[in-house]
Amino acid sequence: MSSEWIRTVALCKHYHRGPQTIKAVDDVSLGIERGEFLGICGASGSGKSTMLNLLAGLDSPTSGSIEVDGRLLGSLSRRQLAAYRAHRVGMVFQSFNLIGHRTAQENVELALYFNNTPHRERRVRAAEVLEQLGLGDRLGHCPADLSGGEQQRVAIARALVKRPEILFADEPTGNLDQENSQQICRLLASLNRGGLTVIIVTHDIDLAEKYTTRTIRMHYGAVVSDVKGSTTGGERP
Ligand SMILES: Nc1ncnc2c1ncn2[C@@H]1O[C@H](COP(=O)(O)OP(=O)(O)O)[C@@H](O)[C@H]1O
Ligand SMILES: [Mg+2]
Repeated sequence: MSSEWIRTVALCKHYHRGPQTIKAVDDVSLGIERGEFLGICGASGSGKSTMLNLLAGLDSPTSGSIEVDGRLLGSLSRRQLAAYRAHRVGMVFQSFNLIGHRTAQENVELALYFNNTPHRERRVRAAEVLEQLGLGDRLGHCPADLSGGEQQRVAIARALVKRPEILFADEPTGNLDQENSQQICRLLASLNRGGLTVIIVTHDIDLAEKYTTRTIRMHYGAVVSDVKGSTTGGERP
C-alpha cells in the first residue's frame, strides 16, 4: 500500500479574464506522503499560493481532484470541509497575521476559541506550545514588542496549538532576514522530524533544497521538477 496521504489528479485552477485564460495551476498530478517536508518553489506568479490553497481546502479547483486520506475534498460538505481546515490543517503566512493588541499567548489561545476548548486548557496549551518554540519568556509580549522571527514563531505556535496533521506555510520567511529565515526553516525541519507533515511555499530554491525532504518547482502553473531527498543533509541529522 502506498503511504500517500494527499493525491491530486489533473488538478487545475484556471481564471478567465476577458478572452484570456490564466492557468494558475495546470494539470498537476502529485502524491504527497505523510511525514514529508515538501517545498513548493517557483518564480512569483507561478501558481505556488494557488496550489497551497487548493491543498489546504481554502480554494476549489476548476477541474481535477484532490484526495486527502482517501476522501475527495470535492465530495465533502461545507461543514466537513470547514472541519478539515479547522482541525487537520495548520496555516502560516508571510505576514504573520497576528492581532496587534493581544499578547503572544492570547494570539495562540484564540486559535482554540472556536474549538470548544475550555478557557483554562486554552491558556495551558498556548503556553506549552510557545515554550516548545523557545518563546516561554515572551508569553505576555504583544507583536510590536517581538522581532519578525519571533512573530513568525508565534504564528507557527498558533497553527500548532490545534495539533494539526499537516502544516502549510506560504512564504513564511518572506518578511524575514536571512538569519531569521534559517531559524524558521530549522524549526519547521525539526517539527517535521517530530512527525508533522510540512508543506512550504517559497521562491527561495536554495532554502527549500537545504531544509526540505522534497522540492517541486512550478512554472506557469505546472510542476516542472520534483526532486526527493533534496536535503543536503547538512541541516538534518
Ligand atoms: N483570483 C485570481 N484571479 C485571477 N488571476 C489570479 C487570481 N489569483 C491568482 N491569479 C493568477 O494566477 C497566477 C498564479 O498566482 P499565485 O498562485 O498567487 O502565484 P505565486 O504564489 O507563485 O506567486 C498569477 O498569474 C496570478 O496573477
Ligand atoms: Mg504566492
